[in-house]
Amino acid sequence: TSAAVTHLLQDSMCCAFRCIILRTLVVIRVCLISCCLTISMKQSGKFCLTFDKGKVFWARELIMRRRRPLFFVLDRFLEQTEAHPDNTFIVFENESYTYACTDKRSNKIANALQSHAGYKGGDTVALFMGNEPTFLFTWLALAKLGSPVALLNHNIRTKSLLHCFNCCKAKVLIAAAELKEAVEDVLPSLIEQGVTVLLMSKNSDTPGIQSFSDEVEKASDDPIPRSFRSHITFKSPAVYIYTSGTTGLPKAAVVNQNRILTALAVLSSNGVVSSDVFYLNLPLYHTAGFVVGFIGTIETGSTIILKRKFSASQFWDDCRKHNVTVIQYIGEVMRYLCCAPKKDNDKDHKVRLAIGNGIRAEIWKEFLNRFGNIQIREFYASTEGNVGFLNYVGKIGAIGRVHFFHQKLFPYTLVKYDTERDEPVRDANGLCIESRKGEPGLLVSKITNLAPFSGYAQNEEQTERKRLHNVLKKGDLYFNTGDLMRIDKDNFIYFQDRVGDTFRWKGENVATTEVSDILTICDCLKEANVYGVQVPGHEGRIGMAAVTLKKEVQFDGRKIYNHVVSCLPSYARPRFIRMQSTVEVTGTFKQMKVKLVEMGFDPGRIQDPLYILDDNAKSYVPLTAQIYHAIISGSTKL
Ligand SMILES: *[C@@H]1O[C@H](CO)[C@@H](O)[C@H](O)[C@H]1NC(C)=O
Ligand SMILES: *[C@@H]1O[C@H](CO)[C@@H](O)[C@H](O)[C@H]1NC(C)=O
Repeated sequence: TSAAVTHLLQDSMCCAFRCIILRTLVVIRVCLISCCLTISMKQSGKFCLTFDKGKVFWARELIMRRRRPLFFVLDRFLEQTEAHPDNTFIVFENESYTYACTDKRSNKIANALQSHAGYKGGDTVALFMGNEPTFLFTWLALAKLGSPVALLNHNIRTKSLLHCFNCCKAKVLIAAAELKEAVEDVLPSLIEQGVTVLLMSKNSDTPGIQSFSDEVEKASDDPIPRSFRSHITFKSPAVYIYTSGTTGLPKAAVVNQNRILTALAVLSSNGVVSSDVFYLNLPLYHTAGFVVGFIGTIETGSTIILKRKFSASQFWDDCRKHNVTVIQYIGEVMRYLCCAPKKDNDKDHKVRLAIGNGIRAEIWKEFLNRFGNIQIREFYASTEGNVGFLNYVGKIGAIGRVHFFHQKLFPYTLVKYDTERDEPVRDANGLCIESRKGEPGLLVSKITNLAPFSGYAQNEEQTERKRLHNVLKKGDLYFNTGDLMRIDKDNFIYFQDRVGDTFRWKGENVATTEVSDILTICDCLKEANVYGVQVPGHEGRIGMAAVTLKKEVQFDGRKIYNHVVSCLPSYARPRFIRMQSTVEVTGTFKQMKVKLVEMGFDPGRIQDPLYILDDNAKSYVPLTAQIYHAIISGSTKL
């Protein structure tokens, strides 16, 4: 027993160290360290090693937080610049920038802005720009001036763009030259609000849009005095990051200085070091790209290979060309990589580590099989959420493990969820019911001082929707992650699905992303977007998949049928297939479903070829008007 207890403690401590990295306060660290010190006396060499790394890290963080004047992410960047000015920081297309050069570029932008009549120190500035070095230079410039930055998604337009801009009360908009037309669309409203609109180009012929690159070129590259940002505290907003739900306009999550300071640790605690080359191809306007990728590399002092956008066909060539050692992913990226045509040189690269979230077990195995021995560090965290996990043992499919200390410090649990009514199941007393081991449940995490929830800017309604009251006790308050998880008998935690991505059929929950992952492993399918459609006279929703085919392949109903039947339980098999030429996705490759769900499976309304799963024919056969009407009238039961 004592060995078991020791083992549990070891495990807890290692994980507690790493998990808490995602969010914690000084007080807790001190007590954890002293607690570890006692435990470490009796530990084996292996544990001591991990422990020592942890200790160094904690000590570093402690020192950072205690420093006066206050120490922020920007200060870490300045430290790195001073320590190795000539190291390459950013490589983009055929350009390359050292730390010193990046620092100077951002000084120029800061000086130009600071002398601009339309900007006052500390004003919130919205940045509307694709992935390019200027995005990063501008963010650093604004950090030097003590301005929070709203990271606008450069794919949004008109009403949505205005909405996002207005959420954060920005006074200035800085836009990339190629987005001029999108800015012009909303210009009258911006002018009416007295917003200063700056375009990163040498000239502008549109009244109300001022060119800014020329001013930047002329500006001095002298450093900005620290006094310009003396008003910043750990609680000041650093960036606004927009998160989109399945419905409605995007919400601006407030990410404060404290939070991005904690994010410094994400890469370093996973063993990324300054000699590493980090491949950043996710959008910079999202948490993954900006916070984990960019902020993470500031701490490690590594080189960033910045890409305008993700490309499965260029991915490995880029990795070879730049000697990339660390890649970052979201689940969709891994799926795209595994679905790309196989090549002889798939294992020929220097990538040793992949950090990200949302990879599924089947894809994980396939990825290792195909691209060789790459360490995968799967973690779970959301832009605005107050709980995080890290799978540091490489358990395939898991996002982390339940640990006593972690759960004590950040109380979280899984509660039963009714996917039909889209709300947690409540008992007779109005309280939630905790899921049992092995059962899926909604992850909720108690809102405390240690685990705060900053909410969404200017959106009390959406903020309130993420708060869950009366969970385990009357009057308690939890953050609703909107994610369904499962905990197995060994306490590993598995991500199941986003709440909106699950539908119910024949009393079973169907996780759409899981089904689409399975479909895309099938030889002929390139992409699959899975959703549930309503059928008159039936409870719940039945599965449907909008798919695209691989190049020069025919739709093979029999092959898909065999694959689906061998991989999926009957309730999860897509009954209908809709063939499309492309699958619509958002900036982070989340698939668009709402319109597809609305259109249903009526061959009279849909131009695309439709198929239905036919168990007698053991194939997917064309869905004719006759079959459709038989289903609608109820003469064919599904
Ligand atoms: C990069 O290439 C483009 C054209 O391909 C060229 O116009 C530009 O000058 C090059 N930049 C550098 C820094 O070499
Ligand atoms: C990548 O590594 C190889 C061999 O280690 C070296 O010859 C090459 O110059 C490196 N390429 C870059 C872009 O650093």
